[in-house]
Amino acid sequence: MAAIVSEKLLEWYDANARDLPWRARPGEAAPDPYRVWLSEIMLQQTTVAAVKPYFEAFTRRWPNVEALATAPEEDVMAAWAGLGYYSRARNLVKAARAVAERGGFPDTEEGLRQLPGLGQYTAAAVAAIAFGRRAVVVDANVERVVARLFALTEPLPVVRKAIRVCTESITPAQRSGDFAQAMMDLGSAVCTARSPKCLLCPLATDCRGRAEHDPEALPVKAAKKPK
Ligand code: ADE
Repeated sequence: MAAIVSEKLLEWYDANARDLPWRARPGEAAPDPYRVWLSEIMLQQTTVAAVKPYFEAFTRRWPNVEALATAPEEDVMAAWAGLGYYSRARNLVKAARAVAERGGFPDTEEGLRQLPGLGQYTAAAVAAIAFGRRAVVVDANVERVVARLFALTEPLPVVRKAIRVCTESITPAQRSGDFAQAMMDLGSAVCTARSPKCLLCPLATDCRGRAEHDPEALPVKAAKKPK
């Protein structure tokens, strides 16, 4: 099923991808790693809608990583005001300086992991989206899509290991970044937490959650600890 799932999903993405400012522009083969990295840091704890104006303002003021690397930290902190989780902004400046120093972004997941502020998710996302590396990219949207697609009924957080294995099994060697973003877009627009729109889903006939369960009930949340 792996090849079929990724092919169907990429076909859906080609027709339905959200037009987001950090994605490749028409005619561009790959998006700019600086814009991908900056967007992924901003998106770590913040919604797409809230990030967009900050992303536009940052890239207008600091159009590349060298510009951001020479910015005084207090200017970056002030521009970040309102996005929250300010350690992200401090790490942003540190990472920009490290990248400028080494003459560009590392182009592998392992290399990206060395930069301040890049955990497992972000390093995988940047490696796949900016550098075309095959990487297993799992955010909350992907988690939900995969738990449903494979009917993974164990609760969070124990199910995370199985989610990673299943995501790995359907991640294609080519267009791995598009695949990751397609999963995110599917989770955001179709395979929503509440009232998933299965009739619009390109993977509906592959979805074991839909065939065997109530997809809306997946992933199962951990039972609340008694107070
Ligand atoms: N959330 C985190 N990264 C994203 C991306 N590249 N596209 C859409 N949503 C995202």
